[in-house]
Amino acid sequence: MDGRRIAIGSDHAGFPLKEHLRAVLEERGCEVHDAGTTSEASCDYPDFAHAVAGRVAKGEADVGVLVCGTGVGMSITANKHQGVRAVVCSECFSAKMARAHNDANVLCMGQRVVGAGLATEILDAFLGAKFEGGRHERRVGKIEPA
Ligand code: RB5
Repeated sequence: MDGRRIAIGSDHAGFPLKEHLRAVLEERGCEVHDAGTTSEASCDYPDFAHAVAGRVAKGEADVGVLVCGTGVGMSITANKHQGVRAVVCSECFSAKMARAHNDANVLCMGQRVVGAGLATEILDAFLGAKFEGGRHERRVGKIEPA
């Protein structure tokens, strides 16, 4: 697809889906930085959300992808980073609109919510959509700083 720099991470509850999505991204031609985790051993989701969101915030990655049990903890944590707009998606329409209208730059998903097939479609919908700018630029500009 692409050549974009993608940072990806998960906790133990998202590890198998993260591994699947990393392979998908590599297949699509993305440059993938895997921030871990590296197994299903219990760990803390904020550690990986901070690692991925930090890369996006610093401009070291174009897009972040985070997986935990629900995607919720990952998104709450990632959104603490300046310039990061993280969204949890479990269907394709929101994933596409999050890019098109909200200029979202981190996609979070829950392995306990979506299967690998749907997660792949959500990822493709997110990566395939472009920020529309215009009136949305003004609105996104009002999001931060609070
Ligand atoms: C881990 O059990 C679970 O709490 C975590 O993966 C995530 O869903 C938190 O938001």
